[in-house]
Amino acid sequence: MSRKNIVLIGFMGSGKSMVAKRLAKILKRDMVSLDGLVEAKEGRSVKQIFEESGEAYFRNREKEAVREAAGKEFLVIDCGGGVVLDPQNIVKLKANGILIYLSATPETIRERVKNKKGRPLLNVKDPQKRIDELLKERTPLYAQADYTVVTDKKTVKQVGEEIIHLLTVGASLP
Ligand code: S3P
Repeated sequence: MSRKNIVLIGFMGSGKSMVAKRLAKILKRDMVSLDGLVEAKEGRSVKQIFEESGEAYFRNREKEAVREAAGKEFLVIDCGGGVVLDPQNIVKLKANGILIYLSATPETIRERVKNKKGRPLLNVKDPQKRIDELLKERTPLYAQADYTVVTDKKTVKQVGEEIIHLLTVGASLP
């Protein structure tokens, strides 16, 4: 397996954070969460940043976090669901990383984010409608990944194993 970063992208609730932690543990790599980097620099949560400074401000901070993480190697990078909105983020992450899209149906996502309050974009009257709209807009962007792993009805362990398999098989290709 190469020293390139393993970069997990996908919608909120697709399991990126948990899978990233698992992969980092198994592969003995450091794990970096882009949201975590932004929160540490700002000293406030993503939710607070959205509320107090707006989405555009957050996207700029997120872009800086991408630059920082993509400049390193041998990491597992857990990206926020909206990282793909900026094409430059994709270019940077791909330059030194293998992008893996964790996909999930709208129903799976709704179920997984149901009782979580930290997601400002889903803090609306009709979260399901919002999920559908955002997914429609973003699915073509997520498709720029090197690999897609379907996560519906799978455990974190299963998804992690699938990714490791993909990366191992991929590494042995000419
Ligand atoms: C966002 C996803 C969140 C976080 C922010 C915006 C998005 O991260 O970056 O709330 O635009 O999809 P997770 O995907 O880890 O929930």
